[in-house]
Amino acid sequence: MSRLIVVSNRTPGKGPAAGGLAVALRKTLAEREGFWFGWSGKLVDAPSTEARFEDIDGLSVAQIDLTRSDHHAYYAGFSNSILWPSFHLRLDLATIEGHWYEGYRAVNQQFARALLPLLKPDDIIWVHDYHLIPLASELRNLGARNRIGFYLHIPFPTTDALYAIPHHNELMRDLSRYDLVGMQANRDVSAFTEFADHQSPSSISGNPLKSVDFTRSETGAFPIGSDPDAFAKMAVSPAATKMIRRVERVLPDQRLILGVDRLDYSKGLPQRVEAYEKLLSNDAHFRRSVHMMQIAPPSRDSIKEYQETSDALDAICGRVMGRFAEPDWSPLTYVKRAYGQPSLAGLYRLARVGLVTPLRDGMNLVAHEFVASQDPENPGVLILSRFAGAAEIFDDAILVNPFDTDETAEALRMALDMPLKERIARWETLMAAAHKHSVDNWSHSFLERLTPSDERLSSAT
Ligand code: G6P
Repeated sequence: MSRLIVVSNRTPGKGPAAGGLAVALRKTLAEREGFWFGWSGKLVDAPSTEARFEDIDGLSVAQIDLTRSDHHAYYAGFSNSILWPSFHLRLDLATIEGHWYEGYRAVNQQFARALLPLLKPDDIIWVHDYHLIPLASELRNLGARNRIGFYLHIPFPTTDALYAIPHHNELMRDLSRYDLVGMQANRDVSAFTEFADHQSPSSISGNPLKSVDFTRSETGAFPIGSDPDAFAKMAVSPAATKMIRRVERVLPDQRLILGVDRLDYSKGLPQRVEAYEKLLSNDAHFRRSVHMMQIAPPSRDSIKEYQETSDALDAICGRVMGRFAEPDWSPLTYVKRAYGQPSLAGLYRLARVGLVTPLRDGMNLVAHEFVASQDPENPGVLILSRFAGAAEIFDDAILVNPFDTDETAEALRMALDMPLKERIARWETLMAAAHKHSVDNWSHSFLERLTPSDERLSSAT
C-alpha cells in the first residue's frame, strides 16, 4: 500500500486544530507508514529549507520554521483576513491588502520545497485547508507527479464573494491541480460547481477572467465527523464526572444551556446571547431555573476583527448580567478559556440544550460531540444553525436562522419544554447520523477516492 503524507498548517500537538483530526489520521498514518508535515509553530529570522522529523506520541511529524514576516502575511494576513472572512461570506470584515498574497505564495513554496525531497513516487498526499490551496501547484511545478488530494474544512463561498478575493482565479487554478477536492457539504459543492460553470469556455466570452479547466480533478462532499464512541465513553469518565459534579454544586436545579466555540465572528456569539436575553425577557418563569454557559477560547487575537468580536461579547454578557442577575442567581457564565475534551464531554452531558448557532460554518464538530456525549435515557436537545454544514446531516435538531434572535429564543423555549419522549426520539436519530458520519468513515471514504484505481483493485482481490 502506498504511504500517506498529511499536510496542514498546524501539526498535531501544536494547537487546537489537530484534536479530532490527529486522532483519526494517526491510525491510518501508522498503517501506511506515512508522516504529518506542517509548520513547527516557530518563527525565525531565516526560513528553514529542510524539515525536522519529530516523534509526537508515536506519530511521525516533519516540521519547518517560518519567518515572522512571511508568517504574518500568510496566516494573519491572506489566510485569516482575506480567505477566512470571504469564504464565510463576511466581506465587510475582510481586509484586502494585495501584498499579503506574496507571503501566502512564498510559504506555500517553502512547504513544497521542503516536502519534495521527502516524497517517494507513489506516496499519496492529503493537504488540509485554506492556508495551503496553492500547495499542489507548487509541488507539481517542482516535478511531483503524486496523487494529491485537498480537503476544505470551511465553507466554499458564493461566486460573488470569491470574485472579491485578490488572485482568486489563480487560486481556483491551483485547486484544479489537485486530483480530488473534498468539501464539507453539498451546499459547498454546489457553490463550487457554480463557479466552475462560470469559468467554462462557453461562458467566458467578454469575461476578462481566463478559463480554469477543472476536468482533471474530481470534487465531492465528504462531511467530517467526530469519534462518537470515544465521546460517549469520555462523557462518563472520571474526569467528565468530576466536571459535572463541580458545576452541579454551584448550579443546583438549573437546566444548562451550553455553547462551546472558538471566539470567532463566524460563530454568532453576540446573537446567541441576545436570543437568550429575549428568552429571559419574554418568559420570566425561566429566570432562576435556567443558566447559560458559553465557553469561548480566544482565537487569532492579533486580528482587529477578532478583538472587536471579543469586546462585543463582553458587552452583551455584561448587559444580560446587569439586567437579570440577582444576588443569589446569575443567568450566565462566560469563560474565555480552552478546556480538555474529557471536561467538555462532561459539560455536554450535563447540558439540557446544546446551542450551536454559527452564522456560517464548514461542519461544526461541537454539534457532533454534543450528540455523542448525551445520556441515552435523558438526552439534551441540539439547537443548530441552518448555516452549519452539520445541518445537512442533523435534520432532527431544532434548526434555526441564527440571525433571527426571536426564532432562536423560541427554539430555546421549545427545547427547554420538550418532553422526554421527544428528546429521546430526536437524539436516537441524531446519534445514528453521528455514527454514520464518523471521522473514521470520513477519512476512509476520502482516501478510498484518492487512492489510484489499480491499487484499489489489487487490495480488493
Ligand atoms: C478552523 C480551521 C482550521 C484551524 C482552526 C483553528 O477549524 O478550519 O484549519 O486550524 O480553525 O484556527 P487556528 O487559526 O488557531 O489554526
